[in-house]
Amino acid sequence: MADPARAFVAGHPIGHSRSPLIHRFWLDRLGLAGSYEPLDIAPDDFPFFLAGLSASNWAGGNVTIPHKQTAFAAIDKRDAAAEAIGAVNTIWKERGELAAGNTDAYGFAANLDDWTPQWRAGQRALVIGAGGASRAILHALLQAGYRHIDLANRTRDRAAELADLFGESIHAAPLAAIDERAADADLVVNTTSLGMSGEPPLMLDLDKVGDQAIVTDIVYAPLVTPMLAAARDRGLTVADGLGMLLHQAVPGFERWFGVRPLVTPDLRAHIVADL
Ligand code: ATR
Repeated sequence: MADPARAFVAGHPIGHSRSPLIHRFWLDRLGLAGSYEPLDIAPDDFPFFLAGLSASNWAGGNVTIPHKQTAFAAIDKRDAAAEAIGAVNTIWKERGELAAGNTDAYGFAANLDDWTPQWRAGQRALVIGAGGASRAILHALLQAGYRHIDLANRTRDRAAELADLFGESIHAAPLAAIDERAADADLVVNTTSLGMSGEPPLMLDLDKVGDQAIVTDIVYAPLVTPMLAAARDRGLTVADGLGMLLHQAVPGFERWFGVRPLVTPDLRAHIVADL
């Protein structure tokens, strides 16, 4: 009989990662004998780790900060989402060779599908932030058919760079413009760290936002950020960010362990208890 599959999450640092909690919950619930292990790998060591991976007994794993771009550059076989986003977060083997993908856009879309499938009917979005997470969300929104995306960022050049990369549907804007741009948006997304525990809140005035607008945050600690609380008070549909974290883990688990796991309320409760 084959040995149980082993998967990793590699980052630096890695102590903050909640991925082991998620994958071990599924392994346990599904009664599978595999394992999922956090690996703290310094940037200088990461290329050597990757080089030894195909001959190792790892089935694959997740990569997180600061290795997502390094893994992208090192693994030639990449899925379409990784190509569009320019980073990978999931590695597996195909016929003994490494393959890589990015599941963040999938996680973002699957989370919104859970909260409000109506989001797919939207055309205009306001995305705040132009970092790594923003790239995945722009890809998800374009895939879902969004035609006009205002991309507001503190550092204007980063927004302009993503607008160049993702094409004419993306319109770079200064952070000062978010109140005005939110007025036309079917969907408002915060991809910055503003609103996270210990960080200042994102200052967004929702007074002019349409009643049908959906507001979501990728921050999930706290679960209800000040922006989501304000949106809820205003009577808007909201989606918190925890489901993106949970759903992005699904495709990797299926690749390594051979079973597609479900994002269930008890998994959510398990992670919430650790926030
Ligand atoms: P991630 O991979 O999570 O997206 P990142 O690449 O470091 O992380 O991007 C963080 C995002 O949060 C950026 O859009 C950043 O704005 P800048 O590009 O101007 O740095 C944004 N951000 C972080 N702290 C912020 C703050 N205090 N005010 C405004 N934007 C902030």
